[in-house]
Amino acid sequence: MDTNNVIVAKHITKIYGKGEAAFDALEDINLSITAGESVAVIGKSGSGKSTLMHLLALLDKPTKGTVLINNKDATTMKGTELDELRNKSYGFVFQQFFLNANDTVLNNVILPLKIARVGRKERNQRGMNALESVELTNKAKDKAGNLSGGQKQRVCIARALINNPSIIFADEPTGNLDSHTGKTVEDLLFKLNKEKNITLIIVTHDPDIAKRCDRQIHIQDGKISKWSNV
Ligand SMILES: Nc1ncnc2c1ncn2[C@@H]1O[C@H](COP(=O)(O)OP(=O)(O)O)[C@@H](O)[C@H]1O
Ligand SMILES: [Mg+2]
Repeated sequence: MDTNNVIVAKHITKIYGKGEAAFDALEDINLSITAGESVAVIGKSGSGKSTLMHLLALLDKPTKGTVLINNKDATTMKGTELDELRNKSYGFVFQQFFLNANDTVLNNVILPLKIARVGRKERNQRGMNALESVELTNKAKDKAGNLSGGQKQRVCIARALINNPSIIFADEPTGNLDSHTGKTVEDLLFKLNKEKNITLIIVTHDPDIAKRCDRQIHIQDGKISKWSNV
């Protein structure tokens, strides 16, 4: 077994619903991802990309099969252990941002530290550092809802970075942005991958983003149709 594998999926299947309504969203997926890699998950809408990302990020459980995290079977982990792993080791960036629009930019960024019970002074210090890495320290006290789309996504990236994650999961992070703004967000994610060696798993429709990744997983009707590296 390759000890550098940060994520291994073994025969994972996801079935939504039961009985007549049961729907096979993913079927027998096998893959492994190495530390520091950038991997694009591509495929048509409804093919199962987000479902796969959720399973790999331990946000949801497979119906069958196992996900190994650092060679440990996630199905054997307790809820608290999973929560801590997600909180401390993973960063998430979603197309829909999921920011609290009425709260300040800084408070949005430091939320994972609050959950981890880090003290206020350290929270704010680390929050400002994270905002610096996305060049938004000047917006720290603004209401998150007042920012532009690109700025909001940079806030999400700052929030994803706050715990020095080993992996960033991004689900169509540029999907709601115009191409110029999207490029800034894209460059930022790849910079973090290269400079901080953060493993990047990115669901995308954008062929340019997919090409910049070390490898591409093509998903079709819940199955891996091919792997490529361009
Ligand atoms: N919670 C759910 N309950 C039932 N079906 C779902 C659920 N989430 C996703 N699906 C279905 O599973 C399939 C894959 O969805 P998804 O992984 O979101 O696709 P993608 O991200 O590639 O667009 C779709 O047909 C979708 O309708
Ligand atoms: Mg999706």
